[in-house]
Amino acid sequence: MIKNRLIGPFTQLLTMDNIPLKGSLNDSQLEIIPDGGVVVCEGKIVKVGNYDLLGDEFGDRNTVIDYIEHEMVLIPGMIDPHTHICWAGSRANDYALRLAGKSYLEIALGGGGIGDTVQKTRVATAMELEASLTERAINYLRNGVTTIEVKSGYCLNTEGELKLLEVIGKTNKKLAVDLVSTCLAAHIKPADFRGSQSEYLNNVVKELLPEIKRRNLSNRIDIYIDKGAFTTAEAQVYLNQARKLGFDLVIHGDQFTEGGVAVACELGALSVDHLEMMNDYEIKLLAGSNVIPIVLPGSSLGLGGRFAPARKLLDAGCSLAIGSDWNPGSAPMGDLLLQTALLGIFEKMTMAESLAGITFRAARALGLSDRGVLKVGNLGDMAGFPVADYREIIYHQGSLNPSVVWKRGARETL
Ligand code: NIG
Ligand code: FE
Repeated sequence: MIKNRLIGPFTQLLTMDNIPLKGSLNDSQLEIIPDGGVVVCEGKIVKVGNYDLLGDEFGDRNTVIDYIEHEMVLIPGMIDPHTHICWAGSRANDYALRLAGKSYLEIALGGGGIGDTVQKTRVATAMELEASLTERAINYLRNGVTTIEVKSGYCLNTEGELKLLEVIGKTNKKLAVDLVSTCLAAHIKPADFRGSQSEYLNNVVKELLPEIKRRNLSNRIDIYIDKGAFTTAEAQVYLNQARKLGFDLVIHGDQFTEGGVAVACELGALSVDHLEMMNDYEIKLLAGSNVIPIVLPGSSLGLGGRFAPARKLLDAGCSLAIGSDWNPGSAPMGDLLLQTALLGIFEKMTMAESLAGITFRAARALGLSDRGVLKVGNLGDMAGFPVADYREIIYHQGSLNPSVVWKRGARETL
């Protein structure tokens, strides 16, 4: 007989339920259950509520008790909606050059940048890539992140991009943490492609995308719109073709130059990510659309640049998700909670806005409605922090780690 698992009691249980997808949030909008508990069965939440009452209802022989002895705050497992964690090599040299005053674009033109990681990732074996991806994903799970979006984009040829997506798929099957794959073959045009930018993208549409569909490797397509990457016009053609093939669309936009937001809104992308350079007109445009902005404070910290205008976006009525952008170049840190806390203090985001950005709203940015909120029917993905007040989580600026993480209701060994 299938057993229920009653988990608790938690000093505070933050459900993140009944929060609007868009707009600013007050901390008083957070649903906090004191002395809370969760019942999980077959990986999904069966009930959330007062621990003692749940004990009365479920405390029979068909229930396993996962008893929490110490004070603990429970939140939904965190979701990182934007990473590039399938890569080989290091870009410490790029970082040293940035410290010496060179810009991201100058470094790329001088032989560093994305092209450098492409060279190293192309020659790495699938086994090597799987090992480093596994290490990064497990590290994330330890930090309470239970779903991670992972982009390809560091091989930029058909064979190599398939290698990356296969590695992401295989690692996803192997680990408890969920990896959501995205094809970023449109990262930049690789140095060895003989032809124009449009010809490169055309080639991706003809050769790579059908194969991704055939092997069921991803249903998401990303493109980097910027100086040194692709233009808005090139992106429009590419994304329209990808959409016809049935892919969901996401965009790297407005990191160094404006323009990506309009494309995202026109084509109905799921999200537009980065946004450090976005203007007020684009904020309005986004507020009137269903596109979710994903801001990436890790990239601002890695480049020493400005944060995306998170406060303005929320005040204008936009949703707001937060991703780490973890990658070897612009965002080498890979600590979502720390970055969320820093973004919050500089942009004046409430605890509710910060937490929603890495749970409920991050799930929606990935088009997922079965996680990010602790409610009946959702996955039992949860992170427990050894504190009595949920505000300690952001207050500690990333230095407080969860003491227990559950994925689909099962305790992970940390
Ligand atoms: O999101 N800007 C484009 N792509 C990545 C950086 C990739 C890299 O530098 O390797 C980003 O910041
Ligand atoms: Fe990125």
